[in-house]
Amino acid sequence: MLSIDLTGKRALVAGVADDAGFGFAIAKAMAEAGATVCVGTWPPALNIFLNLLERGKIDEARRMPDGSLLTFERVYPLDAAYDALADVPEEIRTNKRYKEVGDFTVEGLRQRLLADFGDPCLDIVVHSLANGPEVKRPLLETSRGGYLTAVSVSAYSLVSIVSRLAPLMHPGGAVLSLTYMAGERVVPGYGGGMSSAKAALESDTRTLAYEAGRKYAIRVNTISAGPLASRAASAIGNIERMVDYYAANSPIPEPLSAREVGTVGAFLGSRLASGITGTTIYVDKGYHSMGMAVSGVEGL
Ligand SMILES: NC(=O)c1ccc[n+]([C@@H]2O[C@H](COP(=O)([O-])OP(=O)(O)OC[C@H]3O[C@@H](n4cnc5c(N)ncnc54)[C@H](O)[C@@H]3O)[C@@H](O)[C@H]2O)c1
Repeated sequence: MLSIDLTGKRALVAGVADDAGFGFAIAKAMAEAGATVCVGTWPPALNIFLNLLERGKIDEARRMPDGSLLTFERVYPLDAAYDALADVPEEIRTNKRYKEVGDFTVEGLRQRLLADFGDPCLDIVVHSLANGPEVKRPLLETSRGGYLTAVSVSAYSLVSIVSRLAPLMHPGGAVLSLTYMAGERVVPGYGGGMSSAKAALESDTRTLAYEAGRKYAIRVNTISAGPLASRAASAIGNIERMVDYYAANSPIPEPLSAREVGTVGAFLGSRLASGITGTTIYVDKGYHSMGMAVSGVEGL
């Protein structure tokens, strides 16, 4: 039987702080396929996440098919807005959520992985994080600072992560990120430069696939997911309406589950996908292929 087999592989999933988002679902699917999984968690969310884990609050979501609980080999602090400690402003470094956790930068993550597991130590790297402080503002009303933060945290972070972690990856490894169709088509309400960040992420996926493919023999892809009411998406404000709109207007007229993205993530991380790189894969119930809304149209 052909099955996704990640036995003996180690994945790092950056952008997990609860059980509701795509990062968690990808981590779980990869673990179900046999991988060991480390996660990177944003320092302001780290204690809350560790509490959820310790107090059994997300045990139901962690339950594996064999009855055991999904466990993370490591939970690393990671603020992907910073490449190295020298770049971090004083007020962040001394902030109470940051000062106790050690080096939370991308370079800090690289060094911790090296110290914990040696080199090479990774097979799969998942980038499942984004932040646009002005996401509720139309692009016309977005400040330079808000725009640049969105692009820095949500797109350059992938470049930073690949440039620092690809050298730790085994040849044949895979990098994966999450994008959204607003990078190529207009989605009102997805503002603050987040659409620009996703456009950059998709373009960088192609260039990084070429450069890291040639240099490290790894693959780089991005999943363009449909809407999901994750914690990050709830910040947009109208996520439930988007979920309903997609469900009403997609070729498969039902809401997308995080699990459906998780299993595609596990596939893309596996050798079954060894021929796929530099690609945006849509996991959105087919919504991206529609040219016209169905809802409200008589007879359809
Ligand atoms: N939810 C959707 O509708 C949707 C649709 C398409 C794509 N996506 C993308 O999926 C990815 C994961 O988002 P999600 O919706 O699953 O929500 P999520 O809340 O589960 O994940 C976002 C994570 O990013 C983390 N984060 C924010 N700023 C960070 C920083 N500076 N450094 C490190 N981590 C940081 C948050 O703590 C959070 O854990 C994002 O790239 C998002 O744009 C989401």
